[in-house]
Amino acid sequence: MDLKRYRKLMEEHLGEELYRHSLGVAETAERLAGRYRADCRRAYLAGLLHDYGKACTREELCRKAELYGLQLDRITLAERRLLHAPVGAALLRHELGLSDPAVLRAVAYHTTGHEKMSLLDKVIYLADMIEPGRDFGGVEKLRELAQVSLDAALLAAVNLTIASVIRRGFPLHPRSVYFRNSLLAGLKEKENGG
Ligand SMILES: [Fe+2]
Ligand SMILES: [Fe+2]
Repeated sequence: MDLKRYRKLMEEHLGEELYRHSLGVAETAERLAGRYRADCRRAYLAGLLHDYGKACTREELCRKAELYGLQLDRITLAERRLLHAPVGAALLRHELGLSDPAVLRAVAYHTTGHEKMSLLDKVIYLADMIEPGRDFGGVEKLRELAQVSLDAALLAAVNLTIASVIRRGFPLHPRSVYFRNSLLAGLKEKENGG
């Protein structure tokens, strides 16, 4: 499927607001990919598709997770905010025939992150937080950091996410903690010249 068809499909599937967000993430991801030498076309596509699962209710997402045999933990199953990522990837694969594992992975992990994030995974995670439609305290700082260091921007982004999850009383997914620790370790190594 070409990008034009994907855009049309997403416009119909997501509704106006979420579609606008998805376009913002796609364009931001493409720019970040250019800056950090990731695959720009893949970044645009993964950005465009990352919230595909968000058009569904939690119940629908749970049904689809079962249908496609996804092994999901209790925290993910209880939270639509997390669930739309892995189930969205499964929907893209089974219902749209998208087969690129790198894109599917970036979609599946865009809400929690994980310990061994690929460059594309990182680009999508960050683009989702800093696309032009985002407006929260600290977003400008993230945008500035994103120009300078991908990992430093990601660490600041995951810190903000974790703080917000705790403040709002949501369960914190352990993968976000692993993601944060791996960023810290990587940045420290770099600092020490490793
Ligand atoms: Fe999302
Ligand atoms: Fe998103």
